Amino acid sequence: MALNMVLLRELTVAALFFIINYLFTRYLTRKFSRQLPPGPRGWPIIGAIPLLGAMPHVTLAKMARKYGPVMYLKMGTCNMVVASTPDAARAFLKTLDLNFSNRPPNAGATHLAYNSQDMVFADHGPKWKLLRKLSNLHMLGGKALDDWAHVRVSELGHMLRAMCECSRKGEPAVVPEMLTYAMANMIGQILLSRRVFVTQGSESNEFKDMVVELMTSAGIFNIGDFIPSVAWLDLQGIERGMKKLHLKFDVLLTKMLEEHKASAHERKGKQDFLDVLLANQENVAGEKLSYTNIKALLLNLFTAGTDTSSSIIEWAMAEMMKNPHILKQAQDEMDRVIGRNRRLEESDIPMLVQYILGTLVHSFDWKLPKDVELNMDEVFGLALQKAVPLAAMVHPRLEPHAYLD
Ligand code: HEM
Repeated sequence: MALNMVLLRELTVAALFFIINYLFTRYLTRKFSRQLPPGPRGWPIIGAIPLLGAMPHVTLAKMARKYGPVMYLKMGTCNMVVASTPDAARAFLKTLDLNFSNRPPNAGATHLAYNSQDMVFADHGPKWKLLRKLSNLHMLGGKALDDWAHVRVSELGHMLRAMCECSRKGEPAVVPEMLTYAMANMIGQILLSRRVFVTQGSESNEFKDMVVELMTSAGIFNIGDFIPSVAWLDLQGIERGMKKLHLKFDVLLTKMLEEHKASAHERKGKQDFLDVLLANQENVAGEKLSYTNIKALLLNLFTAGTDTSSSIIEWAMAEMMKNPHILKQAQDEMDRVIGRNRRLEESDIPMLVQYILGTLVHSFDWKLPKDVELNMDEVFGLALQKAVPLAAMVHPRLEPHAYLD
């Protein structure tokens, strides 16, 4: 009897303990989940991944209208927060900058960006600071931009003359190919003191295709990044493609570096950006750069700098051709301010992208080839590509001498 009483008392205590524990855990879970921003419920295990579809940016914009400027998506085993207004973006990228300044490692960082040894994926620490400082000092900062103005003028001159040649032959100018070629050559001259593509053609087009492939594959939502336990299956074949692409880029970058080292004697006394990067391998006192860091930074600058700028100008040009009255208005205004006797100059407009776009608008009349309709479809990726590249019939508008070197 006494034994039964003891057993009963212990069972009661155990049951009470279980109930309290259950209620407390449920309270904590609810309290925690209430702190998350609103968002779609998604599926068990995979969460919101299947909701995103082929055009995640369009889906996320629609979701933001329903759930608000900051929303939460459970993506497999990962938590994702999406900021959809300038204020929300400012909160993450400026106010709470330090909490969000590291990018999570993913397949792109591992297979394309030399295992996060580049600037884009490096943790916010001494290596990233050194890469950032050198890039600003020699390429991206205000003074560097001023110092390299002549490169932009001459490279844009090459592009205008190639477009005049298309016009003379009655052939369409394929705008993104020409822009990528010009951007890569501008970056080449700043980094390596030379144009990387001497003639426009298959080599520069292959480079453009590689950059577009990098930006597209790095932008796709790779299931393995969100459910690491199935990453080895590479269900979408993304990692396979990345590894192949990486090999192609690595051959190109290694060749650039080796040729540059071999020609160092020609630049005695006038070091370029790559010479400075190579000198930082020997940095005795401070942070050092490895050979891989340098290749990875070159990859960053050539890829982040070409496709982004080229796409934005191509889209803007296509939008203007879709709205010819805006194109005409811009040309009339430039004719009044600049005239037709000379090209647009950077001092006419301060921003680089506007400088290139403005020059194209000012220098040519734009038409679509006969029987071609303007296609404005987009392909999802880190930079939104036009699905069909803009190919246009251009006709020079300025006095012929304005196109000369
Ligand atoms: C219109 C042209 C461009 C657009 C729209 C663009 C857009 C962006 C965006 C959205 C980011 C991410 C910023 C962040 O996460 O805080 C970024 C980062 C970056 N961009 Fe650009 N970019 C452009 C041109 C360029 C050019 C010309 C270069 C170099 C030649 C470049 C090199 C980089 C690099 C290296 C990063 C990573 C910076 C870091 O992680 O510290 N970009 N860009």
